[in-house]
Amino acid sequence: MKPSILVTRAIYPDVIDRLAQYFDVDSNQEDAVLDAAALHDRLTGKAGVLANAADRIDGALAAALPQLRAVCNMAVGYNNLDVPALTAAGVVATNTPDVLTETTADFGWALLMSTARRVTESEHYLRAGKWERWSYDMLVGMDIFGATLGILGMGRIGQAIARRAAGFGMPVIYHNRSRLPADTEQALNARYVGKDELLAQADHLILVLPYSPESHHAIGAAELAKMKPTATLINLARGGIVDDAALASALRARTIFAAGLDVFEGEPSVHPDLLTVPNVVLTPHIASASEKTRRAMANLAADNLIAALDAGPNAGHPPSVINPDVLPRRR
Ligand code: GLV
Repeated sequence: MKPSILVTRAIYPDVIDRLAQYFDVDSNQEDAVLDAAALHDRLTGKAGVLANAADRIDGALAAALPQLRAVCNMAVGYNNLDVPALTAAGVVATNTPDVLTETTADFGWALLMSTARRVTESEHYLRAGKWERWSYDMLVGMDIFGATLGILGMGRIGQAIARRAAGFGMPVIYHNRSRLPADTEQALNARYVGKDELLAQADHLILVLPYSPESHHAIGAAELAKMKPTATLINLARGGIVDDAALASALRARTIFAAGLDVFEGEPSVHPDLLTVPNVVLTPHIASASEKTRRAMANLAADNLIAALDAGPNAGHPPSVINPDVLPRRR
């Protein structure tokens, strides 16, 4: 008998077909929202799950589902998973790194440029029929070329963003839990600074750090107050890293110039104050959303699930395990 798995959200049909070669697949192709109770019900008796970054899988759920052996996120971020609890329970957890790095870095730049140069605000202005004549100060923004780029969180995506900065003649400063090796810093032309210096010196600050209790509200009122009034802030990482209420106040008071946000606290809800300030570009968590990358993420999540449940060509060796320690003693 094939093991049973759940795919929690709609996904490419050919990926479902591939999973069905190995598993009995309970798929949610109708894309119904599965709340915690529905997730528990649909996961009962399942050996694995191909999950989405919004599916919360914690220790209590893992304990209530003794058959569950593998949780495979279709996302690089995995703050939706209680990894220590899954590890303690012997459940393999995987994510989808690398395949989305360049696409996400591209989008960081898209958001930065549209924020600093007021692209969406300009389009709204034009569509609203407000464009009557040229004027010297109409919708003026902040320069990208030659400005100082600050990056908070210098993992794969942060480094891919930094590499692109060379084309814009931008000095790069960064802050991270651990400093990069000197040769990597040199190759990226990036200078390590303390968080306060990063906040004070960056003309454009991009957040690409993982969400955790330690990074909750890493950018709040106090941090925003340290930024230049001409600065832009871009959040590509996770909602909750920025205190959205404090950001909306700073944007309204123009203590920073503008912000670009792809992620929100409590998304898909967006703090109502952010919806009423003009100097913010808002996108619905689409940084990795290119056709090629979303397919690659879905396929990598499927590869992980197949291998984690001891099937397919990589049986027992999922390509991107978050908790490798669990492999020798997994359920
Ligand atoms: C998207 O947010 C991801 O973590 O892949």
